[in-house]
Amino acid sequence: MAKETSSLGDLNKNKLIRLSKSCIGDAEKNAVMRVLDKEFLGMGEQVRIFEEKLSHFFGREAVCVVNGTAALHLALQACEIGIGDEVLVPSITYVASFQAITATGAIPVACDVEETSLCLDWLDAEKRITSKTKAIMPVHYSGGVGELDKIYKLAEKYKLRVVEDAAHAFGTTYKNQKVGGFGDISCFSFDGIKNITSGEGGCIVTDDDKVLDLVKDARLLGVEKDSDKRYKGQRSWDFNVSKQGWRYHMSDIMAAIGIEQLNRFDTISAQRKEIAITYTNELGNCDQITYIDHDYEEVVPHIFPTILADGNSRDDISKALNQYGIQTGIHYIPNHLHSFFKKSTKSETILSETDSIYHSLLTLPLHEEVSKSDVKYIVGKLTGILK
Ligand SMILES: Cc1ncc(COP(=O)(O)O)c(C=O)c1O
Repeated sequence: MAKETSSLGDLNKNKLIRLSKSCIGDAEKNAVMRVLDKEFLGMGEQVRIFEEKLSHFFGREAVCVVNGTAALHLALQACEIGIGDEVLVPSITYVASFQAITATGAIPVACDVEETSLCLDWLDAEKRITSKTKAIMPVHYSGGVGELDKIYKLAEKYKLRVVEDAAHAFGTTYKNQKVGGFGDISCFSFDGIKNITSGEGGCIVTDDDKVLDLVKDARLLGVEKDSDKRYKGQRSWDFNVSKQGWRYHMSDIMAAIGIEQLNRFDTISAQRKEIAITYTNELGNCDQITYIDHDYEEVVPHIFPTILADGNSRDDISKALNQYGIQTGIHYIPNHLHSFFKKSTKSETILSETDSIYHSLLTLPLHEEVSKSDVKYIVGKLTGILK
């Protein structure tokens, strides 16, 4: 419980404003109960229905898996990315993007981000292309996609696969097309705090039939054509395995939650947009802070990262906000600085934008239950501390 201890605020807050949270209603709870009552908890009819609804949402086929990291791993594997191959990826992303690449045996090549979007800087990425580069993984940071058309042009020029890490961008459109509804392969996460959740979960969306077939088998330990049986509550007993697979399928409990979240996505999306727009309105005149200037006609925001002006200590500000009951986050420590990726990442070339901003990144609360008055309270405290 945070107590109002300063003249900066006048809302007498006595609650913790969480950075992010799962927002679950009766529909999700009832859906889970229906699955539990059936006493069939694995991958079955609910996963089939969730996939059908997602495929309708995107306008092309979606395959569900156990989480977004697995989606990225399987997508890369299906593109035959493996040992010694190189994959271009922005350093500012969740460690999941990097781990999915190294899981295939490939090398993540850390790239810089653009100043305006904090998404992959395609010009920087081009400089890092070698004969071993096989794929590019743009990360849709905070919900925006940056210069995705330029990234696709780059991929075409160098014959690279594009595996979009769209974990943050469920519902976002780009030039009026839904992310996931176009391009090579898009991977989404439905973990507990994403734009929609299935508890944990993720999906791969593409119109590449070969990739779809490969990921459907690979999520079920490589058991060929097992997905169709699972949808009917059955499984294969007499089967062949010809490729490396993983136990990456989604369960009906997860899918049941995801279906209900998708059913009310219009509301979720409107709320997320409204919170982000309120932040931008409230922060408008503060010269100590910058943030990504998304077009919220297109972007469904997943997080609200800010960049503090030089001279502000992020740790001090984060601690002070915490005293007021406001949680903050850091998205992200650049991955080329992690000891594991120092060995595997070719980071000898400087990442100038990444290195200059990452100490100043501070993410403010954004989830369905953050109210407009919460945002005013948060911005009031933050600007008060900065002054
Ligand atoms: C940018 C990014 N990529 C990938 C993932 C991985 O998703 P999951 O947590 O579902 O494995 C996340 C999840 O936080 C993410 O933020």
